Amino acid sequence: MDTEQIVRTFVEFYEDRGHHRISGSTLLPPPGDPVLFTTSGMHPLTSYLEGRPHPLGRRLVDVQRCLRTTDLDEVGDSTHLTVFEMLGTWSLGDYEGVRSLDWGHRFLTEGLGVDPGLLHATVFGGDDQVGLDTASLELWQERGVPVELTVNDNWWSNGPVGPCGPDSEIFLWTGDTPPRSTPTRDSRWVEVWNHVMMRHRRLDDGRLVPLPQRNVDTGMGLERLASLLQGEPSVYDGDVFEPWRRLVPGLWSLDEPSFRLVCDHLRSAVVVIGDGVRPAGTGRGYVLRRLVRRVLTLLWRDDPSRRLGDLPVELVSHTLDHFRQTGDPALVHQMLTDEERRFTRLLERGRQVLARPRFRGPLDDDDFHYLHDTHGLPRELVTALRQE
Ligand code: SER
Repeated sequence: MDTEQIVRTFVEFYEDRGHHRISGSTLLPPPGDPVLFTTSGMHPLTSYLEGRPHPLGRRLVDVQRCLRTTDLDEVGDSTHLTVFEMLGTWSLGDYEGVRSLDWGHRFLTEGLGVDPGLLHATVFGGDDQVGLDTASLELWQERGVPVELTVNDNWWSNGPVGPCGPDSEIFLWTGDTPPRSTPTRDSRWVEVWNHVMMRHRRLDDGRLVPLPQRNVDTGMGLERLASLLQGEPSVYDGDVFEPWRRLVPGLWSLDEPSFRLVCDHLRSAVVVIGDGVRPAGTGRGYVLRRLVRRVLTLLWRDDPSRRLGDLPVELVSHTLDHFRQTGDPALVHQMLTDEERRFTRLLERGRQVLARPRFRGPLDDDDFHYLHDTHGLPRELVTALRQE
């Protein structure tokens, strides 16, 4: 099944069960939201989880693009991406978590044909504020799916305050032996789907209060699911990365970890630009700038003559199309090369400034402030240039 077929099968499965498809939002949360980017499918739906009636009813399904800077250090492993899509379903004060898990199990095994013997679940084991999630535990036991109980790993929140709750996660075995051990002890169990019983709100003082309604919020990473179903060893080997696998190696010779980082960051930068962000020194624009500069630093480490201008526009248009973005691929491409030019000039200036006698010895905080404020050289760049 390719990614488009998975999305269609998922949406139809939930439409058949009374869900309305909503169109996913952009990566930019509404004004006033303290978070820079949309980090999960529930994020744009927060007010509805808190009780506001949704115009399309109490059962929703969608595909939402997300960006997680918290995962940046994990990018390059086989399952994490900076920008990814999340398949999501919601019960807004309608059905309970067990029904969601039951449908989840059916969708994976009957809808997608996953071998039920390759599944494992985790369930919230209870803490001093909220008890063991017995309903989820019993559901999995009835279905014959092994369960591991955890506490912190089975509690989901989008931030320190706001809607949250115990969750039950579904894992798929990816080893080439029969399944063994449990998700927290063996990384060959890969998490595919999280079902959150979103019934609580965390207050500023840390207390939990019930939300006005008992919701269920589920999220499943699409690229990860697709690569697992396609029997591929990593998200970078699934069908959405096919053009990158085909075109990038002919352009730049990269080892696998560098290939993954370059593709992840460039693809993410394209989507972020496609949602209207421009490189800048703060906020969203700075995240974008860091993505592009991290790619350039890596590319130039082995060969300073490498240029983003060589990146085929096909990769930009494929990415924009995939994320249903309407931007002009040539303009997005141009923004990448403009940012490259700015970075090149900054590096030249940095090298000149750092060659001055004043900066040859150890640097203190005042030096770093001066280099940043007067010459626009961030600390991490100064450190990298001094190691050249
Ligand atoms: N909000 C949960 C997550 O992001 C489930 O959608 O994992």
